[in-house]
Amino acid sequence: MTAVADLDTPVLVIDRSRMDANIQAMAARMSAAGIALRPHFKTSKMIEVARRQHEAGAVGFTCATLNEVDALLGAGYTDLFWAHAPATPAKRHRIVEANRRGRVIVGLDSVDLVRALSVEAAAAGITVPVRVEIDTGLRRTGVTAEQALELARAVTALPGVTLDGVYMHEGQLASLPGDRGDLRHAGAEAAASLVAAAELIRAEGIAVPAVSVGSTPGWDSAPFVEGVTEARPGTYVFFDANQWRLGSAPLDACALHLHTTVISTVRDGEAAIDAGIKALSSDGSNRDRSFGLVVDDEGTPLEDLEFVRAYEEHGVLDGPAADTMRVGERLRILPNHACGVVNMWSRIAIVDDTDVVDMWTPVARH
Ligand SMILES: Cc1ncc(COP(=O)(O)O)c(C=O)c1O
Repeated sequence: MTAVADLDTPVLVIDRSRMDANIQAMAARMSAAGIALRPHFKTSKMIEVARRQHEAGAVGFTCATLNEVDALLGAGYTDLFWAHAPATPAKRHRIVEANRRGRVIVGLDSVDLVRALSVEAAAAGITVPVRVEIDTGLRRTGVTAEQALELARAVTALPGVTLDGVYMHEGQLASLPGDRGDLRHAGAEAAASLVAAAELIRAEGIAVPAVSVGSTPGWDSAPFVEGVTEARPGTYVFFDANQWRLGSAPLDACALHLHTTVISTVRDGEAAIDAGIKALSSDGSNRDRSFGLVVDDEGTPLEDLEFVRAYEEHGVLDGPAADTMRVGERLRILPNHACGVVNMWSRIAIVDDTDVVDMWTPVARH
């Protein structure tokens, strides 16, 4: 058995028991509240992880790309939600074809897209389930409740499409000022406005089966608002430094670390490591200026050491502790954002305590 310490660096490592504990805990919380759990697959992109989430009770998966949809369909998972936009003819063709292999719901936010999808689906003799995206503050995509009503009317009037529900991604919670209490309050408010949008549509006699929320910062607030039926957290499977800073999880729940080696200490107060943006992505922290949290073997942050600069294959740590570092010394970085980091790797080490028990491969990385 290979020990994790014998793997050359940089190497991305998943602590299997922490990941399993995250999977089980989220499934138990949602099931106790009667909320369907539809984890976002873009965080892990690994079929082995999806299998564990499904076995723990996930009803299906959320996807960001159609390649993720295809990968999950190929692995036998047939209840999927593609929470993006069928904005090109190729994508409309693919989502219609995907609905021959499973139930693949599609998100959208415009009447134009509903019409275009309806034409493609009706011609193929397929009915595609649709969810209307409500913007509750992220200002990325999504409509107001009134616009959603218009969209719901269009879906109901057209062939080849059927209204499955409404959804939001409350990603704005990650950048709000305030403490965890404020964040939870904002998560509950966002969910309440999503539920209100569903009620506005129902008041016209149109059925809205799913009211779906989705984020890791909002995992302990938004799903538990009355009227919400489904939660779609993704990052929770590993958590990360951003989620720790936001209070979504303790450090000892963080399951994904980059192992790296000090390669140069020639500069006073700095140590260079063998990991830069091609190992960690360039996803900076929302809350401080670091490229990741430097931690010890137990995952505890090293005081006085900040990951201040990242080049392609070099990173620079800054702080008094850097002067005590030796070339060849191994360190761990807790990534800021798990989803971006996983997507950088073709092989990820799965570790049980100190033993490497497997190597897994993320799929659909584009
Ligand atoms: C539509 C949608 N749902 C769910 C999620 C999961 O959120 P998180 O990564 O905070 O778990 C995301 C993340 O970006 C998303 O875009």
